[in-house]
Amino acid sequence: MKHLYLIGNWKSNKTIAETRAWLSQLAQYKAQLEQYAELQVILCAPYTALSTLKEEIERLALPIAAGAQDLSPFVEGAYTGAVTARMVREVADYVIVGHSERRKYFGETDEMLQKKVDQAKAHGLKVVYCVPDATTPVAKGADIVGYEPVWAIGTGQSETPENANAVIAKIKATTGIPTVIYGGSVNADNVTTFVSQPEIDGVLLGGASLDPEKFFHLLTNAAGTQA
Ligand code: PGA
Repeated sequence: MKHLYLIGNWKSNKTIAETRAWLSQLAQYKAQLEQYAELQVILCAPYTALSTLKEEIERLALPIAAGAQDLSPFVEGAYTGAVTARMVREVADYVIVGHSERRKYFGETDEMLQKKVDQAKAHGLKVVYCVPDATTPVAKGADIVGYEPVWAIGTGQSETPENANAVIAKIKATTGIPTVIYGGSVNADNVTTFVSQPEIDGVLLGGASLDPEKFFHLLTNAAGTQA
């Protein structure tokens, strides 16, 4: 049995009210979730919803963790709009760094991403570092790597589990990081094909994390592979 990371990334979705509603729907399944001891479930919400996410997780005593989707490469100061690692740490345990959408739409470079990871590590955040292939450098200090081929994200065209397994084996060999997960069009129907591969330690979920019922169904299927 291996420990599996199931990481939901809401991207630019969910208001504070929607976050509350999502969690109260998931809370219906709390007893079952508590049985899935081998799953580490992490939800990465927009900054505006993060403190609500954390408070509601605690109030409902849900066995899930909160994560951010990005953070500032700078320490505090005059950086309008940037949210620092110290601020994120108040409301989250994890942070995604280097998602392909950040690289593409916000021009994030490997150098900037290393600074973000340095900030995250200085403040005790666990970093989920995304790369689109096995050759893109992984910043030093990353805790978990997410292999996410760009063409598979949000397209409904997932990578084959066998290829994902092979790329992930390569990433583990070159980085020495033991925990590597796959992301790109994973859903409740195909999740088991990925997490039953020997090298794949979990999945990153965009679209499949938006609906709490479907998300719970996906978690149940993933947990079934560990029985
Ligand atoms: P998707 O996104 O599940 O909607 O394909 C994955 C991701 O970007 O992490």
